[in-house]
Amino acid sequence: MKVLVATDKPFAPVAVKGIREVIEGAGFGFELLEKYSEKNKLIKAVAKADAVIIRSDIIDRQVLEAAANLKIVVRAGAGYDNVDLEAASEKGICVMNTPGQNSNAVAELALGMMVYAMRNMFNGTSGAELKGKVLGIHAYGNVGRCVARIAKGFGMEVYAYDPYCRADLFENDGVKVFCRLEDLYEKCQIVSLHIPATDETRKCINAELLGRMPKNAILVNTARKEVIDETSLMMLMENRGDFKYITDIMPAADAKFAEKFPGRYFSTPKKMGAQTAEANINAGIAAAKQIVGFFKEDNQTFRVNP
Ligand code: 3PG
Repeated sequence: MKVLVATDKPFAPVAVKGIREVIEGAGFGFELLEKYSEKNKLIKAVAKADAVIIRSDIIDRQVLEAAANLKIVVRAGAGYDNVDLEAASEKGICVMNTPGQNSNAVAELALGMMVYAMRNMFNGTSGAELKGKVLGIHAYGNVGRCVARIAKGFGMEVYAYDPYCRADLFENDGVKVFCRLEDLYEKCQIVSLHIPATDETRKCINAELLGRMPKNAILVNTARKEVIDETSLMMLMENRGDFKYITDIMPAADAKFAEKFPGRYFSTPKKMGAQTAEANINAGIAAAKQIVGFFKEDNQTFRVNP
C-alpha cells in the first residue's frame, strides 16, 4: 500500500515526520512530493499511489485518471473545493477532509489581520482597538467558532450568521445571531468570512452587501477568493474611502487593488492561515490516521463525496 503526501505548499518538517510515522507504523509505504509546481510531477507521482494526502493541491479529473490504483484522497484541511468530487465518485475513489484540525490557526490569523487593519497596517499613526468593536462572523463552522472565542477575549461584541448552524451553538458560545445576512453586515464594523467556495457562495460578497457596513468597515477574508465579487468590491472601495479589505487569499486583481487602495488593502503573498506547525501536525496526522482507518477498518467517517 503506497501513501503519497503531495503538497505544493509543504507541511512543517515535524508534521511530515509524524505523518510518516503513522503511515509506516501501519506497514504502508510513504512517499513525499513537495513544491512540485508543475502538474506533470503530480500526475507522475499519483500513478502508483493507493492513497494521497493533499492540501490546496488541485485534484482534477486529469490527475484522477492518471491514478490507476488510487482509492482515497484526504484533504488535510477543511475546504475540498480543489478536488473534483464527481470524477472521484465516478472512479469509486473516496474523498475525505479533516474538519476542525487547522481551525485555530486560521482563526488566529483572522484576528491578527483585524489588529493589523485597526492599527493602520502598523504605519506608526494612531489606530484603534478591537475592544468594544462589533464583529460579524459570516458562517459559524469550526473556524467561525474559534474566531468568536478569541474575539471575546479581545472584548469584542460578537454576532454571527449561519443558516446551517444549530441555534444552541450560538447560545452556548454567547454569540448573537442574525437570521438575515443583510442584518449582519448592517450591524458589524468588522466582518470575517468563513464560508466555503460552493456554487451557492461564489461571488456572493458584493458591493450591495458590503455597502451596508458601518463607517470604517473592515472585511477580513481567510476563506476563499472565489466568494468575492472582485469587480464589485473594487467599485465599492473606490466609492468608500473608509473601507478596508484584508485577505489571506490573493485576489486575481491583486496588483490593481494594491495600486488603487494603499493603506486600505492587504493580501498575504501565499495563503498562510493554516501554516502553523500545530495545524500541520493536527491536520496531517489526522489525514494519515484516516487513511489507515479506511484501509484497515473501512472507516469512512469524514467522507465528503457520495
Ligand atoms: C483549509 O481549507 O483547510 C484552509 O484553507 C487551509 O488550506 P491549506 O492547507 O492549503 O493552507
